[in-house]
This record gives sequence, C-alpha cells and structure tokens, in this order.
Amino acid sequence: MAIDPGAGSTRDYLATPVRRVVDRAMGFEQWRSARERAGLMPYAKYLIKPPRASTTLQYSDGRRFSGINFATQDYLSLASHPAVMTAATEAIQRFGVHSAGSTALAGNVHEALRLEAEISELLHTRHTLLFPTGWAAGYGVIRGLVRETDHVVLDVLAHNCLQEGAMAATRNLYRIRHRDLAMTRHRLSTIRAHDPANAIVVVTEGIFSMDADVPDLRAFQALCREYEATLIVDVAHDLGCMGPDGSGQIGVQGMLGEIDIVMGSFSKTFASNGGFVSCNSRAIKEYLRYYAPSNTFSNALSPIQIAVVQTALGIVRALEGEALRQRLHTAVVALRQGLSDEGLRLYGEPHAIVPMAVGSEAVARRATMLAARNDVLVNLSEFPAVPINESRFRLQVMATHEPDDCRAAAKLIATSVRQAEADIAADRSGRELEAA
Ligand SMILES: Cc1ncc(COP(=O)(O)O)c(C=O)c1O
Repeated sequence: MAIDPGAGSTRDYLATPVRRVVDRAMGFEQWRSARERAGLMPYAKYLIKPPRASTTLQYSDGRRFSGINFATQDYLSLASHPAVMTAATEAIQRFGVHSAGSTALAGNVHEALRLEAEISELLHTRHTLLFPTGWAAGYGVIRGLVRETDHVVLDVLAHNCLQEGAMAATRNLYRIRHRDLAMTRHRLSTIRAHDPANAIVVVTEGIFSMDADVPDLRAFQALCREYEATLIVDVAHDLGCMGPDGSGQIGVQGMLGEIDIVMGSFSKTFASNGGFVSCNSRAIKEYLRYYAPSNTFSNALSPIQIAVVQTALGIVRALEGEALRQRLHTAVVALRQGLSDEGLRLYGEPHAIVPMAVGSEAVARRATMLAARNDVLVNLSEFPAVPINESRFRLQVMATHEPDDCRAAAKLIATSVRQAEADIAADRSGRELEAA
C-alpha cells in the first residue's frame, strides 16, 4: 500500500510487534524515505555553515537551503563569540582535546571545579556536579536518586530525559497536567496517605520549550516542603538567557538558592554540550557522582567544553550578557509581533523559543519545507512531541537576529503557511473529485 507522506507519525513504528528488530526499523524507514522523496522531511539537517543568525543547511533529501536561521539553539550567540572560540583553542594547548575518563575516575580537568563553583554562585547553591550532556543530567538526577519503592510526580510535558529517568527508576510514576498545582497537591497527599515511608520527587521545568510557559516555582517548592517531597527543576531553556545576571526563571521568581535541586544544560545558551545538577547538599552531589549512571559510567566533559562553558558563563554574568539578553528579547518581541500581525497564533510568553501554531501534520510538513525555500530555516514539532493536529514551528531566536530580519521572516513564514494550506486544500479537493 502506498504511504501518504503527509500522514502517520513516529509513534506508528514504536511498538509494532516483530520477530526481528530490523523489521520494525524497516517499517519506519519506508515511511521516512517516503516523506523524504516527497520533500517533506525537515529533520536530520546538516550544517554547511556555522549555526549563526543566517546559515546554510543540507536537508536529508540532499537539497541545500540558506536563509535566516531559527533552527539551531544558541540563544545569546555565544558559539561564535571571539572570546569563547579563543578559550577553546587555549584549552587545547593546556590539556589537549580529550578528558580521558568519567568524573568518578580521573576524567575531570581541575578547571571543572571552578566552573562548578561559578554555576553554584549564579544559582546561589552550594554544590554543582557537571554531566556529559544536559540529557545525561536530567536522566541521571532522577535515576540516581530514586529507587523502585519511591515516587516521581512529573509534569506531563517534562523533557524526554526526565521522563526516561523516571521510567527507569520506578513504576510509581504519576504524570500531572501541565503546571497544575492543584493536581500535584492531590497526588502528593494521596501518596503520603498510603506511603509515609518512601521518597517523593516532583519534577518540572523553568520554562517549557513546546509551549514557552512557566510554572509557579515558589508554589511548587512550598508544596514539596509540605509533603516532604524533593523538587527538581530543569532550567535548560532559561538559565543564562533570562533573569537577573542570567539566573533564569529561578532568579525571575526570586527563588535563588531555594529550589531543592536544579538541573540544566549548556547546549542552549552556553555554546557547548554538557549539563549539571546543582543543590545545597554535598551528600547529593557526591551520591550522584557514583549513583547517576549517566555520569559514573560516561566520560566527563572535555577540557575544551569546560573552557567554552566557563567563558560563556563569564559573559552571561557580565554587563555584556545583560546587553545580549536585551538584544535577544528585542528580536523575540519583533518576531512575535510580526507573526501575530500576520494572524499567526503563538504559544506562551516572550522567550528565545517562539512556538507558533501551524495545525495539521500535512500542512505543517509542507509549510516547513516551503519556509526553507522562502529563505527561513525552521524546526517542526509534530505529534507525538505535541498533540495530534497541533503541529508547530519551534522558532529559536538568538541575540544576533536583527529585529528587521525577524519582521521580514515573519512575513515569509506566513506566506509559507498560507501556501501550504492552499496546496493541501487543493490536493484534498483533487482526491474528492477523483473519488466522485
Ligand atoms: C528541557 C530540556 N532538558 C534537557 C535537555 C537536554 O539537553 P542537552 O541537549 O544538553 O543534552 C533539553 C534539550 O533538548 C531540554 O530541552
């Protein structure tokens, strides 16, 4: 049967019963390549130029498109900052290119200690442990701390690393409606009524990237204290790029030093792979070093990555960081205004990620590729990352995006979406005519 490249999702190939695992992969590959042949596969793009405000990407079907770039994440444009690049080359002179082991053995360069202390300073915490990636930090902090008999209460939209960590740690996993305090309270009281003996961890994020919205961190933390639960907040998308001194949503909400456990990623604002867990307990830091498998059994950050993040963090905390955050905000507001003026619907609040509603998968797939043809490079989020028929562009803005370019891009995006809607409507009426 012919595959409709505008329909279906990765979910269709997740749990198909097969005798050999390759057969499941083959099913997916047929669908993926059908999309590619139809020119509707906007994933797995390759950078031909550095990920700056405009760039060139090669799509998986081999076509190359250049234009204004909202498809990569470098919120304060620090990946191309001269001081950051110099720090990387100087680190090579000091340590070579590799840290040859996990932090539990001998893989940490001593400069990592300084970086850990500086992250603690920014967050007003006492201790920080670095992880090889943000994903490893999110997975590891839950898998490392939670045991089978414990409980995890998790926002339904929490990032994959947190979901996977929770699923690997315990079956006592409760997903709560997005940012829903009342439901969290209900869940905590029910757990405590039946199980006074085991630990509870509550997991949320500083800002959620699919919806660009924020939870009430103060209220979540108070709730956790009331029920002797531990709060974990993932600040991947907000640390560095918003808040006083770049302290993110925790700083915005006046909660510095008061969240039980903070975890984050360097890959959005700090120009490098890497992540961290930060808290006031030395015991938790050292426990995670040996019990979080994604740290214990994985190689530490390289000396280059340590130097890059440290230099980026220095900029984030300096006046220059403040200026970059202001530029980022101006660009974000220009883009959001431009898109709204075109009648497009946006999610959430002004933040480096601008999620924009597109609609059905068929329209969204076509619109994404038309946008690339119209010189705007965007990422598509579709089911199962978001609900069915609620596909959206997840536009990632950076400090070096010029407001005028953002306004121009908004018009081109609107043209692409309208064209895609018209194409899909024409296809549908063509099929209906054929069937009649
Ligand atoms: C909320 C959140 N947490 C964690 C991660 C993982 O970070 P990294 O890319 O550094 O592994 C991401 C990245 O997509 C994220 O969005």
